[in-house]
Amino acid sequence: MAVKMQRVLVVDDEAHVRILLTEILKMEGFFCYQAANGKEALAFMDEAPADLVLMDIRMPVMSGMDAFRIMRDKWPEVPVIMTTAFAGVDTAVEAMKLGAYNYISKPFNNAEIILTVKRGLEIQSLTREVETLRKVVRTRYSINNIIGKSAGMQEVFKSIGRVAPTNTTVLIQGESGTGKELVAKAIHYNSIRSQGPMVNLNCAAIPEGLLESELFGHEKGSFTGAVNRQKGKFELAAGGTIFLDEISEMSPNLQAKLLRVLQDREFQRVGGMQPILADVRVIAASNKDLSESIREGRFREDLYYRLNVVQISIPPLRERREDIPLLVDHFISRCNEETGKQVQQVSEDAFSQLSGYAWPGNVRELENAVERAVVMGQGGVIMSEDLPVSLQGLNAGAAIPALDIKGGSLKEMMEGVEADILKNALDETGWNRVKTAEKLKMSRKALIYKIEKYGLTPS
Ligand SMILES: Nc1ncnc2c1ncn2[C@@H]1O[C@H](COP(=O)(O)OP(=O)(O)OP(=O)(O)O)[C@@H](O)[C@H]1O
Ligand SMILES: [Mg+2]
Repeated sequence: MAVKMQRVLVVDDEAHVRILLTEILKMEGFFCYQAANGKEALAFMDEAPADLVLMDIRMPVMSGMDAFRIMRDKWPEVPVIMTTAFAGVDTAVEAMKLGAYNYISKPFNNAEIILTVKRGLEIQSLTREVETLRKVVRTRYSINNIIGKSAGMQEVFKSIGRVAPTNTTVLIQGESGTGKELVAKAIHYNSIRSQGPMVNLNCAAIPEGLLESELFGHEKGSFTGAVNRQKGKFELAAGGTIFLDEISEMSPNLQAKLLRVLQDREFQRVGGMQPILADVRVIAASNKDLSESIREGRFREDLYYRLNVVQISIPPLRERREDIPLLVDHFISRCNEETGKQVQQVSEDAFSQLSGYAWPGNVRELENAVERAVVMGQGGVIMSEDLPVSLQGLNAGAAIPALDIKGGSLKEMMEGVEADILKNALDETGWNRVKTAEKLKMSRKALIYKIEKYGLTPS
């Protein structure tokens, strides 16, 4: 791609000044066009906005100040540099207060002009880039990209809508792959802190000894290896959100420290003396049930209450199967877009497999299965063969995977089959005994008896 020439609009009532400025900038590879007063400049901008404007303050017909005010409102992203005779510097400073990018006083110093214009353009392109990235991020993490019509997901959406605009601490609970991080991002990017950073910390992924320094930073020389002062995640997240993932894995020692930060809203770097303001919103997530961790003595109850100001529980996918078709559609269109494939349909067999499977890896597992099927599939239809083997043989009416019948007496073989059927049905309902018993039209008591008899455990 050819590099686009950057356009500078030079505005001055004196022709020789315009020519001089144009010559200097042309030599630096800029494309220049000229206007003799503010009114002409605005007309040019209407036709084709420049990337940067260099404009005299005092001009007949319409002054640079008046033209600047209009430009600022109409083309806020275009930097304007005011030029002025030395006597007019006060006015130029005034213009800067109103948002002009900079000013240059006459007589001109060529190097200063070139430098100021280049800097102005650099900043402008950075601003544009940041704006574009922000837009991308905002659409990606908008609540519209979280799919689900089930009652459970409707509750999740309601909670997101309610907590996003506040500064409240949020605890997100849900099995692996249910969308905890997605929800955390939706909250951050729809909050008043959305312009600030979102900093993630996976508490399970960092060795215990390093976690404190990761969270709060350290001073130079505070421990062997601390060669420089370093900011921690709490400091890096200032003005934004910190996402503490897998919070259940945090050591007792650190739980105590985190509790103190949440209470006092301040912390210290490791080896530091000064308190630092914790200007962050905390979102924590766990795929373990924290109340169970408390019962087992592995999680502090007081910390739990601090984190659990608002709780969002994302149900496992097997408990909201009505979301599966929507999610499948969503992942197919996204994958089509990314790969240029044109998958439009899912065969009946494949569909009943997708709907019937227990999805222990939840939405992430479904996402991977659909992506794989879109890539592997031929002819625009996802067939049963395109799905992972773990789903194969789960057709409606034949909800029994290939049976592994071992030899022995008929009774032993029958029991083997029975155990397989029970285990499969239990896995499908996520070991919900009531639902499983209903499905197999047997009593719950009989089911529990058989689970014990065959020593069945979740996959
Ligand atoms: N409701 C949903 N709509 C669309 N995509 C979803 C939904 N839920 C999850 N996903 C997608 O599934 C994948 C897993 O989600 P995410 O990483 O947020 O899960 P998680 O709960 O944080 O998992 P883990 O506990 O393993 O960290 C992501 O690619 C995410 O975009
Ligand atoms: Mg996660």
